[in-house]
Amino acid sequence: MIRAQNITLVRNNKKILEDVGFDVKKGEFVAIIGPNGAGKTTLVKIVIGLLKPTDGTIKINGVEPEEFIKKRNGVIGYLPQKAIVNWSMPLKVLDVVLIEKLSPFSFFRKYSKEDVERAEYWLEVFGIKNRVNAYIRDLSGGEQQRVSLARCMFNEPEILVLDEPNTAVDAVYNVKIYETLRKLCDNRDITVIMVTHDIGAVTMYVDKVMCLNIKLHCHSSPSAINYSEMLKRVYGNNINIVIHGEKCNNCIFGVRDDRNTH
Ligand SMILES: Nc1ncnc2c1ncn2[C@@H]1O[C@H](COP(=O)(O)OP(=O)(O)OP(=O)(O)O)[C@@H](O)[C@H]1O
Ligand SMILES: [Mg+2]
Repeated sequence: MIRAQNITLVRNNKKILEDVGFDVKKGEFVAIIGPNGAGKTTLVKIVIGLLKPTDGTIKINGVEPEEFIKKRNGVIGYLPQKAIVNWSMPLKVLDVVLIEKLSPFSFFRKYSKEDVERAEYWLEVFGIKNRVNAYIRDLSGGEQQRVSLARCMFNEPEILVLDEPNTAVDAVYNVKIYETLRKLCDNRDITVIMVTHDIGAVTMYVDKVMCLNIKLHCHSSPSAINYSEMLKRVYGNNINIVIHGEKCNNCIFGVRDDRNTH
């Protein structure tokens, strides 16, 4: 569904990305990991057509991302790393989810019943429907993030691109978000690309892990990765990764991986 070939992006004579290539199939759940400044945000912006690479091609269903979006034959949901919602605005949770439907001077107009039901459905999916009538400024950071996820799903996209959706979300809710995203892939065939620093837990839920640090150091299933070697290569020597697995006792994380360590 998504094919990147030889993507290089140069800024101020510096390579931000170098010769990155990968395929993502429809319905796959992919995590992009890598240290700060590795080019993760830059790469996902290229995937959704917000940035053009200096070299290389990116195609979604055979066409460039802009064309894919313009045709509306497939919508992309995007959660940027930096908030696009001003959380101090006097808006309610429902307004934020329905933001796509907002037009100037529409604050006093009622939304359609179907729109409200759809918004409430996605708030329920992300476990935040109980705050539907709350002012967004009264939500915690993690709650705001879950509202943003519901907003991303409102138009029922085919592809969901999430840039660190789990910042400010507690560990238990992180797991719930991963479980929810996994179900979206399995039950609705949605393709999810998620940038995260939560390496240990996410490997239980995703189909593929991309380890990025300017170059793509690997792109394979979580069980095929030699973590100690790969992560030292990508993150450097001073890292101690915990992989959750079947032998986890007293561990809040579920089971998907039987490799080792925790
Ligand atoms: N507009 C820009 N102009 C010049 N350099 C930029 C620009 N945007 C990003 N960069 C540089 O590109 C590199 C990659 O940035 P990017 O935001 O993609 O990293 P990241 O992997 O998402 O990091 P983080 O984990 O901190 O979010 C960084 O060195 C950054 O300083
Ligand atoms: Mg980033």
